[in-house]
Amino acid sequence: MNLLFVTPELAGYAKAGGLADVSAALPRALRDRGVDARILMPFYGARPDWRPALDVVARLDGMAEIPPCELAVTETPEGLPAFFIVCPGLYERPGTPYTDLSRQDWPDNDIRFARLALTAVQIITGEANTAWRPDLIHANDWPCGLCSGYLKWRQVPAPCLFTVHNLAYQGLVDVSRMPAVGIPPSAFSMHGVEFYGRVSFVKAGLYYADHVTTVSPNYAREITTEEFGSGLHGLLRALTESGRLTGILNGAGEDWTPQTDPRLIRNYPPRVRQGKQRNAVWLRETAGLENGNRPLFVMVSRLVHQKGVDLALAAVETIVAGGGQFFLLGEGEPGLESLARATAAQFPGSAAVMIAFDETLSRRTIAASDFYLMPSRFEPCGLNQMYAERYGSLPIAHATGGLVDSIRDGETGFLFSGATPGALRAAIVRALKVYVRPGRITGMSKAAMGQDFSWAPAAARYEQIYKSLPAR
Ligand code: ADP
Ligand code: GLC
Repeated sequence: MNLLFVTPELAGYAKAGGLADVSAALPRALRDRGVDARILMPFYGARPDWRPALDVVARLDGMAEIPPCELAVTETPEGLPAFFIVCPGLYERPGTPYTDLSRQDWPDNDIRFARLALTAVQIITGEANTAWRPDLIHANDWPCGLCSGYLKWRQVPAPCLFTVHNLAYQGLVDVSRMPAVGIPPSAFSMHGVEFYGRVSFVKAGLYYADHVTTVSPNYAREITTEEFGSGLHGLLRALTESGRLTGILNGAGEDWTPQTDPRLIRNYPPRVRQGKQRNAVWLRETAGLENGNRPLFVMVSRLVHQKGVDLALAAVETIVAGGGQFFLLGEGEPGLESLARATAAQFPGSAAVMIAFDETLSRRTIAASDFYLMPSRFEPCGLNQMYAERYGSLPIAHATGGLVDSIRDGETGFLFSGATPGALRAAIVRALKVYVRPGRITGMSKAAMGQDFSWAPAAARYEQIYKSLPAR
């Protein structure tokens, strides 16, 4: 089976969040099962540590306002076979895959990601004339939402699976942009791309795909409700009823293993306590936290409303009053960044914040910590709670989405109901009580580390679904 895995993000190259990690790990796990999975993504430019030899194999036509591009074959920095779309005018800019340096969405994101979806379709139809041809497309999140739409509108009988990683990001554009990205007028309907008078890329993905998955069983249920469905719960319920919506829990990539992670100050096991302490000494020194043997609560996150960063900051007082320390690594909304700085300033030596996106620091932080805070208001899957468990740190998490599917309350972490400061504080108090019982915390930490978060079961489920799609 030849699979084209279409994504805007890839760990080790262009990462904004968890989709990057999934895009690096899932295709690899599929390859281990014998699926010939190849990635398709934009070429955002070379990186200091990655200057690939791009072998241009095709020049692809544009459509409407979508410019022509080149298609290059190479390997990802981690050695996965991949197609990169070379279109410097669209992609080679300083910033993230979605935003400029001041975190504003690129104004031409509709064209940028229409180019991505269109390329996938040109590859599967043979227009790109590539030696390797996919049997199906696996499209991810709103930037790939138009893949299934273009297939339907062009009457290409090729299967497409669409995965929702986060329904809150929808790719909404004005109706006037439809001709620019080549969406036919007839698609502007409730049974199509229309969403409250605008055009929704994510709805295109949901509506036209042969099957939809999302990244945990619990989130798959939640998004059929008004509370979590972001206005799309009706469509999602219909998909569930016709057996076309499935929740598959993400895994944690093999590179997230404390025994071998080359970025840690010290690896572990076997000496878990010592290993974690050594990383903690480094982190305390780096972050400006007092040295000493105090329970360390951390968080590594995009600073956005979803993640409940404000709730965590409101609970720092409880952590410090209980003898603990707090460290936050993250960047995002300016308001949350300044709230984080202000909170840390109130507890010098006991609370610290670093506003940055730093992969090495994120791994050391998780390794150093005793407890990992994840008070997300909603969380499709969440990867950091799994990484925390792998690294022997106990997650303290709101019982929502994938957090429920990956944390066993009182065994591998702590779950609380209701995203409120009070509920989080009560969970922190529970954690502090466990901390003072060495046998208990070591036991929980071992149970957490012993969980199997390998990607293999998820890859098997995806393969099953690929095989169930109508063949071309
Ligand atoms: P989401 O995709 O919603 O941001 P996930 O938990 O699925 O949430 O994945 C987040 C990923 O991004 C994790 O790998 C996490 O470590 C990483 N990450 C988030 N913020 C930072 C940061 N400031 N520095 C380094 N890594 C970060
Ligand atoms: C999204 C979600 C996160 C999930 C990730 C990977 O960014 O917010 O919960 O883990 O995608 O699927």
